[in-house]
Amino acid sequence: MADIQDLSKLEADIVAAIVAANDEATLDAVRVAALGKKGSVSDLMKSLGGMSAEERQTAGPALNGLKDRLTEALAARKSALTEAALEARLAHEKIDVTLPVRESAIEAGRIHPLSQVLDEVISIFADMGFAYEQGPDIESDHYNFTALNFPEAHPAREMHDTFYFEPRADGSRLLLRTHTSPVQVRTMEKGKPPFRFICPGRTYRSDSDQTHTPQFHQIEGLVIDETTHMGHLKWVLEEFLRAFFEVEGVELRMRPSFFPFTEPSMEVDVRCARLGNEIRIGEGDDWLEILGCGMVHPNVLKAAGLDPEKYQGFAFGMGLDRIAMLKYGIPDLRAFFESDLRWLRHYGFSALDVPSLAGGLSS
Ligand code: DAH
Repeated sequence: MADIQDLSKLEADIVAAIVAANDEATLDAVRVAALGKKGSVSDLMKSLGGMSAEERQTAGPALNGLKDRLTEALAARKSALTEAALEARLAHEKIDVTLPVRESAIEAGRIHPLSQVLDEVISIFADMGFAYEQGPDIESDHYNFTALNFPEAHPAREMHDTFYFEPRADGSRLLLRTHTSPVQVRTMEKGKPPFRFICPGRTYRSDSDQTHTPQFHQIEGLVIDETTHMGHLKWVLEEFLRAFFEVEGVELRMRPSFFPFTEPSMEVDVRCARLGNEIRIGEGDDWLEILGCGMVHPNVLKAAGLDPEKYQGFAFGMGLDRIAMLKYGIPDLRAFFESDLRWLRHYGFSALDVPSLAGGLSS
């Protein structure tokens, strides 16, 4: 049997190894080497059996004491290591909750004011029972002019600053539509009266300044049946402008005008106040031109295959960009097409702001 000195040396060595163990695996190896089945302390315990009774009386308590102290030291070291590991993890994985939360894509993205205004216009007219129609951007001279009662070589054709394509073999030239009015004829041709629809879309003219861009947007409206008259036209426009500008007291003024495809033709102004650069709709003593309209010319009905003795109705057309600028106080049309993110963040709308008459158009 090892004497007391040997025992204390053994204890000192094992305790040193315990203290030096820097991770749980090393510590466990120290435990197995001392207290495992073939460990140094276990070996000594086994030797108790071969001792005399007196020897065992001193060696027994000494070895048991050693075993208890080592077990305790191992447990203490183990819990110290666990705690240190937890501390390290906490320090490493900590997050700074004071950092600003990054916006999700749906919050950061913006709907272009033009898209928003188009949705507003569509929801207002849908509420009045207007269907939605579309036509091609590339048009023939027939649909853009002739079927709309523009006489050949009439100066009104020149007024439109048309973009023409190269002449085809037969000499005819396609063009980029200068207005959405051709969709009137296209839609009447393919359907049967009564008609009540709007057709928004891209339009093109060779023109560029603060309020004109070569590509812009219009919205056309058409109502044809056997009885529709100018009173209906006025009511529809009043309803539309009141809902769109979200002011109860919108006041209209109809001025006689000229368009080849309507007779009579009118331009519609809304009452407004001009305060410096700002325009307020529905108050003040000024007037602002907002759209063109009239009763559809018999020649247009004929061109679309309808009998003008039987059918009649009204049409109107307005610039979508223009009413967007007016409603949302946007001073320069060209910015609509520049894709400047700072501009979009300022004038754009949240993707979750879906306009509806029930929910409020722009609230
Ligand atoms: N097409 C016309 C333009 O671009 C606008 C217009 C005026 C359309 C009167 C109409 C209308 O339907 O009746 O200048």
